[in-house]
Amino acid sequence: MSRVLLKDVRPYGEGEPVDLLVDGGLIAEIGADLRVDADEIVHAGGAVALPGFVDLHTHLREPGREDTETIETGSVAAALGGYTAVFAMNTDPVADNAVVVEHVWRRGREVGLVDVHPVGAVTVGLAGEKLAELGTMARSSAGVRLFSDDGHCVHDPLVMRRALEYTRALGGVVAQHAEEPRLTVGAQAHEGANAAKLGLEGWPAPAEEAIVARDCLLSGHTGGTLHVCHVSTAGTAEILRWWKSQERRGRVSAEVTPHHLLLTDDLLAGYDPLYKVNPPLRTDDDVRALRQALADGTVDCVATDHAPHADQDKTCEWSAARPGMLGLQTALGVVVATMVETGLLDWRGVARVMSERPAEIAGLADQGRPVAAGEPANLVLVDGGARWTVRGAELASIAENSPYEGMELPGRVVATMLRGTITAVEGKVRR
Ligand code: DOR
Ligand code: ZN
Repeated sequence: MSRVLLKDVRPYGEGEPVDLLVDGGLIAEIGADLRVDADEIVHAGGAVALPGFVDLHTHLREPGREDTETIETGSVAAALGGYTAVFAMNTDPVADNAVVVEHVWRRGREVGLVDVHPVGAVTVGLAGEKLAELGTMARSSAGVRLFSDDGHCVHDPLVMRRALEYTRALGGVVAQHAEEPRLTVGAQAHEGANAAKLGLEGWPAPAEEAIVARDCLLSGHTGGTLHVCHVSTAGTAEILRWWKSQERRGRVSAEVTPHHLLLTDDLLAGYDPLYKVNPPLRTDDDVRALRQALADGTVDCVATDHAPHADQDKTCEWSAARPGMLGLQTALGVVVATMVETGLLDWRGVARVMSERPAEIAGLADQGRPVAAGEPANLVLVDGGARWTVRGAELASIAENSPYEGMELPGRVVATMLRGTITAVEGKVRR
């Protein structure tokens, strides 16, 4: 394993630039102007050094829809986006057994650019009726800890209760896509003035909020660990804030997506399905509340919900389009634009919401660690001042459905490092 010297980096963007020597997969030494032998020197030009990002919510489409993303192309996108670990979910066949999760895990290792942790389904076939083989998946070589029916809500309260009980015994987490299906039949857009004007069937905020409130109560009652996926409404943030202040709160965490931190349903006016996503883009008030909730820790972390879709599923009429947006290569830029440039988070805060908290929630011991000597060298170097223009066609994903097309974003990944090996540098992956 090679020795790499990262010259002129600023851990957490604080203080004068220092040098960081990486050796044997660990951060060996940090200091001003280190005079040491190294196989490679990276001149980082004062880039911010953070722990590598961890994404709890990624759709890599393998097996099933390799025409839109594979574990390989998704891993490239992740490394270029600054990620060192991603949690991959909803495949076809469904990951409700050990065979599928072991395949995803093994393929991720073969590609080797980012740790690809498969997320196991909660119920067989994502049907919401019968619990999947949670124990077998947990004990498999993939060591599944995160379980989700994402795309679908585990809506039956008794099934959700049992899932929390079983995963508790396994040391696992249930990641819930909170959407009461009876309230979102045919839903196409956030239920509000814009949907009404455009004649789109509404997806009302309480469909999310009611499930989140219920699941907090079930988590408290069972002692099971709940993670709320893609929080999208101000009301959900309020419920989480209230619940986390309760004595019986148990273990509940939540994520917000970059798109829900930046985009609103005003974008729907052109009927461009690029902006169709589930849960839907909501209002300015929701965006404001979500940013605040992320800043104060009510919402724990950012997760991309990276959802590649084929051209024909996005360049069609709104109602026929599939929901979802690319996110892995733009997440950092959106977080810098919405949270750092607004003064809501500093770089320590970015490390917390994009690396430390997600690693803790998923129980990853070697990710989200401090940038300090003796720690694993899972790192990202960020040029916070750089700006770049998003072009879907230039992103590493096979699919091109970026909602930030043509937008200028701040923050560029200079390099990403996984266990001491450079996986991406200056916009190119390395293997
Ligand atoms: O917009 C979404 N797309 N939301 C989900 O919950 C699933 C995802 C997908 O798989 O495309
Ligand atoms: Zn979802």
